[in-house]
Amino acid sequence: MALADEPTLDPVGAAAWDDFRSLAHRMVDDMLDHLSTLDEQPAWRPLPDTVRRALGSEPLPIGGVGAEAAYDDFKTHVLRYTTGNVHPRFWGWVQGNGTVLGMMAAMLAAGMNSIVAGFDQSSALVEHRVLAWLAELMGFPPDASGLFVSGTSTGSTLALAVARHGALAKAGFDPREHGLQAGSTGQRPPHLVCYGSAETHGWARKAVELLGLGNTAFVRVPVDSRDRMNLVALDRRVREDKAKGVVPFAIIATVGTVNTGAIDDVPAIANVAGENDLWLHVDGAFGALARLSDRLRPLVAGLERADSLAFDLHKWGYLPFECGCLLVRDAARHRETFANTGDYMAPATRGVIAGGLPFAERGLELTRDFKALKVWLSLKSDGVGSWARLIEQNVNQARYLADLVQAHPALELLREVTLNIVCFRYAPTHVDAQQLNPINVEIVLRLQERGIAVPSGTLVDGHYAIRCAIVNHRSRYADFEALVDAVVRIGDELRFGEGA
Ligand SMILES: Cc1ncc(COP(=O)(O)O)c(C=O)c1O
Repeated sequence: MALADEPTLDPVGAAAWDDFRSLAHRMVDDMLDHLSTLDEQPAWRPLPDTVRRALGSEPLPIGGVGAEAAYDDFKTHVLRYTTGNVHPRFWGWVQGNGTVLGMMAAMLAAGMNSIVAGFDQSSALVEHRVLAWLAELMGFPPDASGLFVSGTSTGSTLALAVARHGALAKAGFDPREHGLQAGSTGQRPPHLVCYGSAETHGWARKAVELLGLGNTAFVRVPVDSRDRMNLVALDRRVREDKAKGVVPFAIIATVGTVNTGAIDDVPAIANVAGENDLWLHVDGAFGALARLSDRLRPLVAGLERADSLAFDLHKWGYLPFECGCLLVRDAARHRETFANTGDYMAPATRGVIAGGLPFAERGLELTRDFKALKVWLSLKSDGVGSWARLIEQNVNQARYLADLVQAHPALELLREVTLNIVCFRYAPTHVDAQQLNPINVEIVLRLQERGIAVPSGTLVDGHYAIRCAIVNHRSRYADFEALVDAVVRIGDELRFGEGA
């Protein structure tokens, strides 16, 4: 036991451990109270000035106030003032809810505090196992490589790095040694380009910039009337680029675009990739999880042909942030892109480092937390079937919301619903078309500010849309009825004045 003059951050002595235990139990109880009463709470609380002031001007704490007082401050100023994404009527952007078991798994992982770079430890075995389960679910081969990452942006960026690495190596350059600079021969590497639809998520731009290829290396292929990549345009552009001496290296297909949930024709895109020897990356941030349902699987057919696939368990797997997953078909190429050595982490066949650092060799991070635990515990507890049923429920809810919209004379559905995203607007006849965008912007803001619900907004064909992305295991059908009533009420209020 530590002596009083030997500092530690653990409680010192049995009484101090007991005190901490009761605080810890209170923390769990408070969190469960909060989560079990969400439907009685507003969907969002605008940040009060008191909170802004308290959090915005806190001086650096040189002397601590103790865990109890710090926790009280958390309860007063932090706990309730988030985007509201845990709430049953939150459908903004694509933010998942989290689960109570996932929350406890995150606590257990933090308690274990295991660095999952690899090593000969249980957490590495769990990550290997869970990645194998996910590869099986996604139709990837058992020897595929994988990695838990913060999210699909990171996973997809790593995937493009693997694709770029292979393309440069194939062209006779050593990408690890010279990057995009001229090597010892003095020859410059090829001008690489990749393709994705104009609806591809913004990570792609950041990725090509970060990989040194530049924004113009990401060719935005036009979409059809259902927001899917136009394959004729893709094929034409690839041929034109090749004729110009530009070197295509990858195609990004999206299953479930962020704006409208559109699903690219992955089998056809895989054919184009195959014919041109291009890497196929699938962004399946939320849409890939539809594969878990027998009924929905045909909608996302073809993603199992991808060279790499990124998706988020923190979206349609409902788990707490962060929990993204990257799968790469060619394990050797994945490792070649990132593997590193150092005297301080030389491999060994015995001891803690036996087994090496396989996860550090698949991405940028050496220190990695134990994200796989929340997936492992949740899948063991609930089974794949329960996720599949919830995903189907969300798709049914999206169709229900679309039906409610279509049945209401004052509402207009702006896109056919493919999966779980519904884009609609308040658009009664006789309202000047110019006014519809500002009216719908205001409807979204009032829904949020009054704590009724949190949809977000987007533009569909230039029309401002109220957008609901449903990855919420807490939503009930009645929540969508309440949303539609509120949209019409607020829209009428804006046209005719309060009390309309
Ligand atoms: C289609 C798509 N791709 C990528 C992302 C980015 O995912 P993350 O925020 O996990 O990096 C999102 C986020 O909503 C998305 O919808």
